[in-house]
Order: sequence, then C-alpha cells, then structure tokens
Amino acid sequence: MVCRRCSFQIPHSKFQIHDVVAMIILGIESSCDETALALLEIQNGRVSVRANLVASQIPIHEKTGGVVPEVAAREHVGAIMHLARQLPQVRPDLIAVTRGPGLLTSLLVGTETAKALAFSWDTPLLGINHLEGHIVTGLLARDTILESDLKVRYPALALVVSGGHTELVVMRRPCDYMIIGETRDDAAGEAFDKVAQLLGLPYPGGPAIERCARLGNPRAFEFPRPMMHNKSFDFSFSGLKTSVWHTVERVMASPRKLTTLEVNNIAASFSSAVSDVLVAKTVRAQRQYGAKTVFLGGGVAANKMIRAHLARALRAQKQAVRFIAPRISLSGDNAVMIALAALFRVNAGARGGSWRALRVDPNLKLKAH
Ligand code: KG4
Ligand code: ZN
Repeated sequence: MVCRRCSFQIPHSKFQIHDVVAMIILGIESSCDETALALLEIQNGRVSVRANLVASQIPIHEKTGGVVPEVAAREHVGAIMHLARQLPQVRPDLIAVTRGPGLLTSLLVGTETAKALAFSWDTPLLGINHLEGHIVTGLLARDTILESDLKVRYPALALVVSGGHTELVVMRRPCDYMIIGETRDDAAGEAFDKVAQLLGLPYPGGPAIERCARLGNPRAFEFPRPMMHNKSFDFSFSGLKTSVWHTVERVMASPRKLTTLEVNNIAASFSSAVSDVLVAKTVRAQRQYGAKTVFLGGGVAANKMIRAHLARALRAQKQAVRFIAPRISLSGDNAVMIALAALFRVNAGARGGSWRALRVDPNLKLKAH
C-alpha cells in the first residue's frame, strides 16, 4: 500500500486505521438483486463515503413476486459497468467484493468484475461475507465519521435479519463470529415477502407491510410467536406464515376481498409477532453472553417498529448496552457496507490478496478467524 502524499510504501502487516494517511477502498456488491459500487476514503482518521451507487432490480422482480436467479445475473451484467462509469475516477488501494453468501450467478458478476479490476490495476483484492457487511454498517452513522466511532466494546452480539438469513451471532473480537442461532426454515425477510404476497401487497414485502402495519391494530389478530420461549437461539417463521394464511382464508371465506382495515390489522399483528420473537431472543442472548454491544443488520433492520422495540428492550437491561442499527438508507444491500467490512478486516490485520485467490461461496458462513 502506498501513501498518497509521499509515496511511502506502507507495509501490509502494520496497516492500522490510525496509521493510514489515505486509503481508498472500492466496494462491490452483487449477491442478490442489487448491483452496488461504493468508494470509502480513510484520511487522517476520518472515514468518508465518496460514492454510493446502487442499481435496484426491484421493478423487474416485482413482476414475478421474487428473484429469478438467471434474470438477476443478466441484470447485474448490464448494470455493473454502467455504475462503474459513474464512479469518481480514482484508483483504489484495495478492492472489496462480496464472495458469499448469495446467488452463485449473481455473485460471479461482482467477483469477476473485481478480479478484472484487481488484475488491471495490480490492486489487492479482499473477499467479504455479505452478512459481515450488514453487521458493521450501523457504525457508519453519517457519511463522514471519526475513526473513534468505529470502536466497539466486546463481546458483541449481532442480529442479522435479511431476505435470506436470520442469525444471532456472537463476536468475541473484531471479525470473530460464532453463530449461536439461525432460522430453521424461512428467514424473517422472506416471511415478510410471503405474507405480503398473501395480502396482495407488492414485492418486496417488508416496506409494504410496514406501511400498512402503521395504520393497523397489532392486537387485532393473535398470531403465534414461534420458538419464542424455546431455550435455543434458533428461529422459525414458516408456522407464523401458515397461521397468517389460515387467517386470510377464514376472513375471505365470505367470498370477498380483504378490506383495507383487515389488511392493515393483519400486517400489524404479523409484524408484532415477528418483532416479539426477534427482541425476546436477542435480549436473552445479550444477557447470556454479557454482550456490551448489540448490532442489528440486514434489510429487515429498516423496520422502524423492530428497531424501536429492540432499542427499548436493551435500554431496560441492567448492563449498559450500546445498540447499533444501520441508517434506513443503508439497511438494504449496498456496497458501502462491503467496503466498511473490508476496512474492519484490514484493521484486524487482514490484507488483500491476489485476484487469483478469490473464491465464490454461495453458502459462505460467518466464522471465527
Ligand atoms: O438485506 P436485504 O436487502 O437483502 C438480502 O440480503 O436478503 O434484505 C431484503 C429483505 C426483504 O425480504 C425485504 O422484504 C426486507 O428485507 N425488508 C423489510 C423492510 N425493508 C426491507 N422487512 C421489514 N420491514 C422493512 N421496512
Ligand atoms: Zn443483504
């Protein structure tokens, strides 16, 4: 790595945030249905977002009510170079790309682009776990933050809730992950998407359900809270989805369409059930592992009710807990989170490697390092 001011060669092994005179990280994300590029600049202890570009495929997948992998990959191919042309013309010191988990063909578009850039610029390349990106995003409270804002007290706990994952993860040190619970069937975001479909709401379901839920009564319908009192930290949302389906069938038996009030009430009652389970398990895990920091991350983290309920429950704990949730605009998939995760890895001693070493893994797991 080379200092931009004096061309001094910075040895990789001694590379720490506070040593960095200037560093630019290019983040690339294409694991599902969002193509994203971002530039993160670290200068004099300040971390700044210089670019954050996202091309969403939502209008395309809306028609099929979900992501068709082949279609998603083709869209990534079209979008990624279009986005690259809009980036500021700077050469990064490090390229960070999502290497999993995700859809194989979608991931390949991002990683092959990253490899080509790393080869042509002779720049180190770092493969990032998409979920790690979701976890650390909350630390970026504004577009420019101080290095000290990135300090985390350990042990920390992370609740990752996205369209494909629902996991509780303990972090004993930076970049050291231990999954203590995960969903046994549907992910939380998937449940939002499926229930939205039952209610005739658009894809993706989470934002649509949240809008309706705000106008509904969360106690109008009594939905189950699956595994809420179970000792394990695992989740299950398919029974809740089935229960919503039975309710919709019963209410519509007359035969007629659901009224707006019924849709709002079902949305509110369903959201409340999901929130109760997520909050109960996270608080129990926080206590059991003595977590001093709790991260919330993933698309579902955009849900204001879930954020508020979790924040309130953590404030009520005896131990002081720092609760870190992403800005709403960075809750969904983006590349800033991938560049930020790379910065964390670099600060924990990681260095980018050769483009030849990067491997895609659609089932990549968070693990200890
Ligand atoms: O993290 P993400 O953007 O993509 C994946 O990595 O899967 O998460 C997408 C998921 C979708 O299932 C979407 O319905 C859900 O996040 N989501 C929400 C909200 N916004 C997005 N769920 C609940 N409330 C929201 N406001
Ligand atoms: Zn995601």
